[in-house]
Amino acid sequence: MIRIAVIIGSTRPGRRAESVARWVADTSVRHPGVAAGEATVEVVDIAAYGLPLLDEPVPAAFGRYAHAHTRRWAQTIGAFDGFVFVTPEYNRSVPAALKNAIDFLYAEWHHKAAGFVGYGVHGGLRAVEHLRHVMAEVKIADVQTQVALAMFTDFTFTDPTDPTDPGTCTPGARQESTLVTMLDEIIAWSQALKPLRVPSTAPEPLSA
Ligand SMILES: Cc1cc2nc3c(=O)[nH]c(=O)nc-3n(C[C@H](O)[C@H](O)[C@H](O)COP(=O)(O)O)c2cc1C
Repeated sequence: MIRIAVIIGSTRPGRRAESVARWVADTSVRHPGVAAGEATVEVVDIAAYGLPLLDEPVPAAFGRYAHAHTRRWAQTIGAFDGFVFVTPEYNRSVPAALKNAIDFLYAEWHHKAAGFVGYGVHGGLRAVEHLRHVMAEVKIADVQTQVALAMFTDFTFTDPTDPTDPGTCTPGARQESTLVTMLDEIIAWSQALKPLRVPSTAPEPLSA
């Protein structure tokens, strides 16, 4: 069983991210591997973890977490095999809240696979490019296929002139099929990387 987390990357009040994450979760149910029970897709909302701006005295690479909020976040992320990052584009990059949540942890991300659902005026492409750089540092294998949702074609608004209207994420069949292909890649890579996630029980090599 492969567990995939759909991470909501925006904590903004009135965010569109919730609607995007819901679309991802609802569409994932139709993925053959998910339908067959070989993989699960669960939404993880970073806003629910109350993470402040990084307040750990020791860098995450040392794995010595001082705060309960970090340990709770670590327990959640550590339990998953792969990720779908749902990220809007903020000033050509990812929201600070998402980068902050990633920076809190280290080993919990290692040897897992991830794909991206970006959104923004032009599909959040620049945010996802930045996120791919971050993935390398936390040892996440990022898959090639990505979903790019554009504000004016993949969302429906009650009043398009109202900036507080969160709208609804309503992409077409082509986006759905891209998402399913991306899930194929995330599930396959999460499975393939599994041996690296198991702590080695092999004896230490003898020194000469
Ligand atoms: C601080 C900020 C910066 C933004 N910068 C960009 C940008 O550089 N490119 C873009 O396409 N959209 C940009 N937008 C528009 C967002 O992509 C759009 O509002 C999206 O709905 C934000 O996601 P959220 O509602 O889930 O927080 C920006 C929005 C905010 C709040």
